[in-house]
Amino acid sequence: MLATTGEFAAKNPNTCRAVKAAIIEAGKWIDASLTNKNKMAEAVADKAIEIQGVAQSFTTPKGTFVALRDINLTVAKGEFVTLIGHSGCGKSTLLNLIAGLATPTQGALICANREIKGTGPDRGVVLQNHSLLPWLTCYDNVYLAVQRVFGQTQLIKGQAGIPAETKAKLKERTDAALAMVGLTPAAQKRPGEISGGMKQRVGLARALSMQPAVLLMDEPFGALDALTRAKLQDELLDIVAKTQSTVVMVTHDVDEAVLLSDRIVMLTNGPDATIGGVLSVALPRPRNRVALAESTQYLGYRKAVIDLLYTRQAHVGKLAA
Ligand SMILES: Nc1ncnc2c1ncn2[C@@H]1O[C@H](COP(=O)(O)OP(=O)(O)OP(=O)(O)O)[C@@H](O)[C@H]1O
Ligand SMILES: [Mg+2]
Repeated sequence: MLATTGEFAAKNPNTCRAVKAAIIEAGKWIDASLTNKNKMAEAVADKAIEIQGVAQSFTTPKGTFVALRDINLTVAKGEFVTLIGHSGCGKSTLLNLIAGLATPTQGALICANREIKGTGPDRGVVLQNHSLLPWLTCYDNVYLAVQRVFGQTQLIKGQAGIPAETKAKLKERTDAALAMVGLTPAAQKRPGEISGGMKQRVGLARALSMQPAVLLMDEPFGALDALTRAKLQDELLDIVAKTQSTVVMVTHDVDEAVLLSDRIVMLTNGPDATIGGVLSVALPRPRNRVALAESTQYLGYRKAVIDLLYTRQAHVGKLAA
């Protein structure tokens, strides 16, 4: 039987001290409302994405609905950032703005020093519903994206441009992307013939095949069972370590956020949602989920996220803690 907290503390004073220290350390959320936004931006030397004073409103039959306001965030090259918050707070809205699928009502979003004006091959997007073309094989779903990016001359302002690649090279890219997510054996299957986890892998392969500077993912593993989700998280950790990609990912899952992130960005409840806190996760990489399960530092971060979501932003939502 489990001992009471008091009995456990009496028998294990060192463990308790370590857990307490880790919780205090991990609990050092940067309160975005108190932080000078310019200082935050300056602190990031090599910027992949800058979000400056962004607001997003929607026109609804009941009037204007302000989903997001005053969003300021800079993501460094190679950084893994997760967006977390209660259902309906505006995570997808923010990710869609970065993807260029929508235009902000106010403010600006910048990727690689250029204002985001629409979708682009520099930002690979993985959506929760994997949006594959059902009549194409896994191979062709990926090949289509590769062909769109590398199969035609890439025009670069003021430069000669990059010539279209040969079919053999496009095939090589497609094969490599499928191999990276372990899908080579299923390359000739259609989406209707593969599992949910495999469909997510095709979506990931398609985004990775474009060699985007930034990978944007909206709850990519949300609909998967716990084991498949864990496997894909581990694969994602490996892939990101290999490709050094910058990632912005939406998640509802506290463990997923702590395991994967360099920083966790918490949005306040909407309407009028903004950044309520930013937590830097200083766990060393490579990260191993089994080892981390016993790490006091890991548990400290986990508790800090849960505290912030349930104490400061209490709300009945669909969070998996
Ligand atoms: N096109 C739209 N028109 C009107 N309101 C919208 C539109 N898109 C989103 N919203 C509203 O903006 C808010 C934020 O929506 P969003 O989809 O970004 O939330 P979310 O944090 O991704 O939620 P979830 O975790 O459930 O996916 C919600 O209240 C939603 O109803
Ligand atoms: Mg969403």
